[in-house]
Amino acid sequence: DRATAHLRPAAHFTARDTWLNDPNGLVLHDGTWHLFFQNNPHGATHGNMSWGHATSDDLVSWTEQPVAIRHTATEEIFSGSAVVDEKNTAGFAGPGQTALVAVYTSAYRPAHPTLAGRQAQSLAYSLDDGRTWTRYAGNPVLDRGSADFRDPKVFWYDGEDGEGHWVMVAVEATDRQVVMYRSADLKHWEHLSTFGPAHATGGVWECPDLFPLPVRGTRRTRWVMIVSLNPGGVAGGSGAQYFVGDFDGTTFTPERPGDGPHGADWLDHGRDYYAPVSFNGVSDGRRLTVGWASNWDYANETPTSPWRSTMSLARELTLVRTSDGRDRVAQRPVLPEEAREGLSVHELRLPADGRRRHEIVLHGDGPDEVVLTVDAAARTLVSDRRRSGDTAFHPAFPSVDTAPLHDVGETVDVTVVVDGCVLEVYACGGLTTLTQVVFPTAPLTQVAVRETTAG
Ligand code: FRU
Repeated sequence: DRATAHLRPAAHFTARDTWLNDPNGLVLHDGTWHLFFQNNPHGATHGNMSWGHATSDDLVSWTEQPVAIRHTATEEIFSGSAVVDEKNTAGFAGPGQTALVAVYTSAYRPAHPTLAGRQAQSLAYSLDDGRTWTRYAGNPVLDRGSADFRDPKVFWYDGEDGEGHWVMVAVEATDRQVVMYRSADLKHWEHLSTFGPAHATGGVWECPDLFPLPVRGTRRTRWVMIVSLNPGGVAGGSGAQYFVGDFDGTTFTPERPGDGPHGADWLDHGRDYYAPVSFNGVSDGRRLTVGWASNWDYANETPTSPWRSTMSLARELTLVRTSDGRDRVAQRPVLPEEAREGLSVHELRLPADGRRRHEIVLHGDGPDEVVLTVDAAARTLVSDRRRSGDTAFHPAFPSVDTAPLHDVGETVDVTVVVDGCVLEVYACGGLTTLTQVVFPTAPLTQVAVRETTAG
């Protein structure tokens, strides 16, 4: 569709001519980054859920591969994760082979003879580096009899005994709970503990993740749990909160258990950042995530064709201790120099003295614009996309969204990445991010900074 070709991003993954939502099965294997994703192989709206597949050498240039795991008449393939089974714990690999194992949610369709309406966890494996996938004959491997048990994230946990085992976090979505299990072989799972409801609970909990993360400049490592929720996100509709705490191999304990919805910490303050999860298989110590840059409020109606929805950039996470004594997640985009050519990256440093406010106006050759207002005194960054082009396709779309700024010094650093229909904003060393999509008639590749005085 020529009319929306300028909206297709270069460094953010989109499917060629179909629908996508959550990133699934993020894994680095033999130097190749694998991004599986919730995909409708037959159209550009949510349905017929299957795992699409893309690969990359650098996390910015992606090649779409054939659909990895397809829906059937009785089963849709919902979100989940993938692991490299180095020790062949599941026994899927033959001599000299290494199995990639996908752990996904079987969402059983009405036509299923015995499990209709249920959600349970299943396995598929690949013995050819992710090209082709075989479903495990013993599926499902974990069934709680629930209709809302989904989105398993599995990772290897070294444990204290030096043996190690697999840990799974998944959600009981409508209970707003994360349930944790352990396994030696990915096939048999033993319940460990249950976390939640906690902090933001205004919608179903989805797509959890749990991982250790170093605190920058210290030798300390803390555990971070990500929980997406929809609705009830900070900007309205879908959003992703995180908890900082400790995991002892059985139980996750957040550092601020009693804070309620207003104490929630958010991975992003825009309307279009959902279901972020981290890569498995990264051995250099980096914690890298990808999210889905949309919102269930209007995801099925965004005006692009023949594809619909885009992923975020990959982001590297660390914890930073802020002056209030809290350890907060800071993020920066994975964006090598070579990849910056096709996009607009604006790196700004605005003075934060007195009552001056700064408006960062993102525009193109037409009248469409997004205005980012940095108010250092109020410690906020406000994004206004009400005049950003096509905003009429859904009433929740033309929005004004506010993000807090942390540890404002003499300047506020703001990096804006504009890539087709996606804008990612990083401020204050990545302690604040705001991600959103826009649909202008010409790309908003130019920037102007205006100074105003706060009233
Ligand atoms: C999150 C989600 C998941 C589910 C998938 C279905 O966006 O609703 O909970 O597994 O999408 O496509």
